[in-house]
Amino acid sequence: MIATLALFALAASPAEERFLATEVIDVVRVPGPLVAKPEAAGLYLPPATRMWLAPQRTVRLPDRDANEALDVLGAPRALEVRAFRDDNDLALVLEWRDETEDRGSSAETDRFGDAAAVELPLAFGPGVRLPYVGMGDDGAPVALYLQRAVEHGTLGRELVAAGFGSSTRTAASSVRAAMRYDAAKRSWRAMLVIPLVTPERDLRAGLVPIGFALWDGAHRERGGNKALSSWKVLRMPGQRVDDRYLTELAWGFDGKGDVLRGKQLIDTVCGACHRAGDKRSAPVGLAPPLDDMGLVATPSYLRDSVMAPSAVVVPGKGWSVRAADGTRTSVMPPFAALPAADLDAIVAYLRTLGVPAVTSKAEGTTP
Ligand code: HEC
Repeated sequence: MIATLALFALAASPAEERFLATEVIDVVRVPGPLVAKPEAAGLYLPPATRMWLAPQRTVRLPDRDANEALDVLGAPRALEVRAFRDDNDLALVLEWRDETEDRGSSAETDRFGDAAAVELPLAFGPGVRLPYVGMGDDGAPVALYLQRAVEHGTLGRELVAAGFGSSTRTAASSVRAAMRYDAAKRSWRAMLVIPLVTPERDLRAGLVPIGFALWDGAHRERGGNKALSSWKVLRMPGQRVDDRYLTELAWGFDGKGDVLRGKQLIDTVCGACHRAGDKRSAPVGLAPPLDDMGLVATPSYLRDSVMAPSAVVVPGKGWSVRAADGTRTSVMPPFAALPAADLDAIVAYLRTLGVPAVTSKAEGTTP
């Protein structure tokens, strides 16, 4: 075991090292059974992984007040995640700052509860591309675990989704969830316990991709109006890490691209369709804004978006053409012949967009 670890450490490239240091949530093994009790979780909490979530503005709700509220709240939100497992289950503890405790009401349709969700691809591993981070896509569905604060507790739900608005509930919901608001800290701690293996997916692997979403009920957030993370990765204890998968996931994390060159390229080559950073001349709605790409997209997703836009098509009116067989072709031209240095530069610049300048703990918004 020690020998394998040493070999593994030796083999890690700069991109892999950086990926492991910033994107990975180490899952800690604990004696079971795991119970969804946020107040008890403190007793054996492993160290937290901190991340930023960006408001989802690509797909808008038909609710002007809610969309304006999302724009007002705007800024990225910090989330701390801890994970542990026993023989059967995975437990996730999510903590985030929220000024007000909001609980959904079944009587008043205009009251929205604070909520959190975890997203897991049904299929993953070397050679399998990650689903679109906003609830999956046609070719790559995700399992969603939602927990929402309601009048008398927490509503936990398991769904399978293949794109915005496409979710279906799974037959037997196996999720155990509980949320607890700490009024003194003005923050939520939510705990979710899910089986490692369900008929839809199997988490027994060294590296398991995972995404996160948060809703703030006070800002009328629900559905697509939420804050979203990029794909992160759970590292499971006692499970072999597939080197090939690590290399794939870590693509671009060395950040070797020339950021200034990337900005120049994007402003001139892509700026007619996309708004990005201070380049705002593209008409609204012609293409998704790239302003939060540094928070919600992985480098390999950015690479694929540029080289092969039709591999994953972002849902949006007029952004793709649907063929008779249902496949979608993006209206964005593929830049497949882009020189490697230009691609690296574009990815490096996009990775800076939306990332808060201050990331120290003291300035953060999580407890
Ligand atoms: C002709 C207009 C057009 C041009 C030029 C264009 N794009 Fe796009 N782009 C789109 C559209 C439309 C979409 C959404 C459909 C899709 O997913 O391909 C998109 C999607 C994207 C996405 C995914 C965004 C998301 O929200 O996930 C990225 C990243 C991107 N483009 C980057 C670029 C870069 C970098 C360039 C320049 C090298 C570029 N685009 C040039 C129209 C364009």
